[in-house]
Amino acid sequence: MIIKSLEQLNFLSVEIAKKLSKSDSILLFGEIGVGKTTFTRNLINFFQEQDNVQITDVLSPTFNLLYEYEFKDFKIMHYDLYRLKNSKEIQQIGIFEETKAVIKIIEWPELIKNRIPNRIEINLSYAENENERNFEMETFGKCRF
Ligand SMILES: Nc1ncnc2c1ncn2[C@@H]1O[C@H](COP(=O)(O)OP(=O)(O)OP(=O)(O)O)[C@@H](O)[C@H]1O
Ligand SMILES: [Mg+2]
Repeated sequence: MIIKSLEQLNFLSVEIAKKLSKSDSILLFGEIGVGKTTFTRNLINFFQEQDNVQITDVLSPTFNLLYEYEFKDFKIMHYDLYRLKNSKEIQQIGIFEETKAVIKIIEWPELIKNRIPNRIEINLSYAENENERNFEMETFGKCRF
């Protein structure tokens, strides 16, 4: 589908947030600056609002690799693997650990995608106009919508 604006992306991320199971992983594909972090920020801010906790900044984990967000009965781990070059490095960041009550959101997941069997893949790409994006979504394994 085509997303026409930031507002529409926000709407969509909230719709997805409402349907997520608390063990799903979302893999976010797409070029630099296409909107992966923006999508994640909308989703995290929605859960913060729902839990009645402070709406925080959601910064890109490009340099830290990982930021975590705690909620009442689950947490979100937001990864950005852009700087990782091989799967040995990835082994060290706990991304494959089976975890209940954790939603993992992973930007730049190309190196690891096949190792996360239960996943939602989202692909964002640039469209004709500046604030438009193409949005595709597919689920794998036990992730069900
Ligand atoms: N419809 C839209 N959906 C998403 N982002 C949009 C849209 N229209 C404009 N933007 C802008 O595009 C930029 C997306 O930046 P963002 O940091 O989310 O990209 P990213 O995919 O995470 O990049 P990176 O690969 O560097 O991590 C933001 O400045 C955002 O305001
Ligand atoms: Mg980003």
